[in-house]
Amino acid sequence: MKLRSLDQAPQVQRVLVRADLNVPLQDGEVRDDTRIRASLRTIRKLTAGGSSVVVMSHLGRPKGQIQEAFSLAPVARRLAELMGTPVRFASGLPTGADARTEVRRLGPGEVLLLDNLRFDPRETEDDPGFAAELAEFGDIFVQDAFGAVHRAHSSTHAICAILPSYAGDLVREEVQALERLVEGGGEPFVLILGGAKISDKIGVVERLAAQADLVLVGGALANTFLQARGIPIGRSLSESGELDVARELMRRFTDRFRLPSDVVVSRAITEAGHAVNVEEVGSDEMILDIGPATRGIFREAIVPARRIFWNGPMGLYEQANFMAGTLAVAQAVADCQGYTVVGGGDSAAAVAASGIAERVSHVSTGGGASLEYLEGRPLPGLADLVEK
Ligand code: 3PG
Repeated sequence: MKLRSLDQAPQVQRVLVRADLNVPLQDGEVRDDTRIRASLRTIRKLTAGGSSVVVMSHLGRPKGQIQEAFSLAPVARRLAELMGTPVRFASGLPTGADARTEVRRLGPGEVLLLDNLRFDPRETEDDPGFAAELAEFGDIFVQDAFGAVHRAHSSTHAICAILPSYAGDLVREEVQALERLVEGGGEPFVLILGGAKISDKIGVVERLAAQADLVLVGGALANTFLQARGIPIGRSLSESGELDVARELMRRFTDRFRLPSDVVVSRAITEAGHAVNVEEVGSDEMILDIGPATRGIFREAIVPARRIFWNGPMGLYEQANFMAGTLAVAQAVADCQGYTVVGGGDSAAAVAASGIAERVSHVSTGGGASLEYLEGRPLPGLADLVEK
């Protein structure tokens, strides 16, 4: 997919940049700034060229209402620290009076961050009117929000029909990395899937399992597959409405699926767990991680692979008692010499927490977006940027 790049953009006074600065906050501060760091390259390139830059993003899902807890103010502070220059911030409605005043005041080479786009209910409605209000803030539009390109929203899609639009450096890098994964060849190709929901992963399994040599399944996702095989899973999280889907996927790709052979169980997430054979989960127990034997089996499959795609943790990794499986997979991916891609969200956070991000070929800033790209679904935020 060849995208119109920033290098093809004319030199203009004001650039409107859509970034994905949807980052986790804790006590009013940014807990993980990976997405902010990933957005710096494009913003710096534009300010270095003398343009003033209006950056916009969503944060969480405030459902069309201004709510302090969803304000991008902490993100503006962190962005300024990382840029090493002041960043102006307009709180409240993203196209409200404050925002318009701040845009007028913005000088060459300066950066302004608008507040949460989803404070306006029209953002998620792909509304041409709201997009037109945003479009007044720039002479051109730069799409750099890879994590949000699967959303057809006013600031990711409708805007492209109004302003001359270009792909930012992060978006181009992400697309190239995923293209290389799918088209670059190299066997064995190993898919590692975890997390909670089978519905998020069906498309990827359907498109990639035929190409992949192995599909390693962990996390609550594995519970649904185990249940579909008739293995009792006690009180574990699973999607019992999706058992037929799980059975059908296992039937079609039976030789490739690897489910956990042992698991870490506990009666409560606050208690330490213990490992049991997967056939021995008690009726009052929950599966909360893959067990040590499974970690070893997964590692043996991962390390010699030539291509890896990993999305979703292997258990309740936010709790210290149940993070070992996810960390073991992260370490194995880091030790793999092949082309390794980790897709967004929790798995990217696990890679960052293990300090091995540099040893992974590409850590995507988009969880849902990378999955939808790999499924081959059209991405509304890129549709108008593709060179014909
Ligand atoms: C993400 O975190 O996956 C993106 O920022 C998109 O957020 P959304 O799922 O709320 O649209």
